[in-house]
Amino acid sequence: MAKIILATRNKHKVTEIRAMLAEFDIEIITLDDISKDLILREDGDTFEANAFQKARTVYDHTKMTALADDSGLEVFYLNGRPGVFSARYAGTKATDEMNNKRLLKEMRGVAPRRRKAQFRSILALAGKDLEEITDGICPGVINEMPQGTNGFGYDPVFVPDGFSKTYAELTAEEKNRISHRALSLAKMKDVLKEKLPFLTK
Ligand code: IMP
Repeated sequence: MAKIILATRNKHKVTEIRAMLAEFDIEIITLDDISKDLILREDGDTFEANAFQKARTVYDHTKMTALADDSGLEVFYLNGRPGVFSARYAGTKATDEMNNKRLLKEMRGVAPRRRKAQFRSILALAGKDLEEITDGICPGVINEMPQGTNGFGYDPVFVPDGFSKTYAELTAEEKNRISHRALSLAKMKDVLKEKLPFLTK
């Protein structure tokens, strides 16, 4: 069976990606299964640079085909912030709650029509003679306050277009149908279908 290693230590991303790749005959391994101390740097200026950096680092270390997601929230009123800084918006040791608090403070009093935002996911696949990249965007708005307890990160403050609930009020199945990561993974699934016979065993 082909193997893919997920180049992330984010357990929520692992859960989502595993669920969405369940239909494939692929063994999914996580970085924590292999190496507790490999450091995944993400100091690029773009999601693309960070996704490739993570996937390449893990491929070089394990020689297994590696899949990395770099993602974040882009708020138009904030000129695209938090963007690549999403995970550490309120500081390097920030919790999701602290990041949401900072964002909502910056958006306090901003009119509904100026609260547009989007989640972006870039997936990078790195392997032997293999480099592929896909992207997915989910448009929506920033809620006035946190709502819901599912998911992670900015899920409680993001209402995807076409819904009146935040990502954190959707079930995992609902989020995995419409999310930025679902869209980039749908494209990556097409790549995987083609490359499956050539992936590491
Ligand atoms: P990364 O590990 O640099 O890709 O960090 C991604 C950060 O973006 C996460 O820590 C979250 O703050 C945010 N993020 C990415 N995807 C999601 C999502 O699906 N829901 C909520 N927040 C997300």
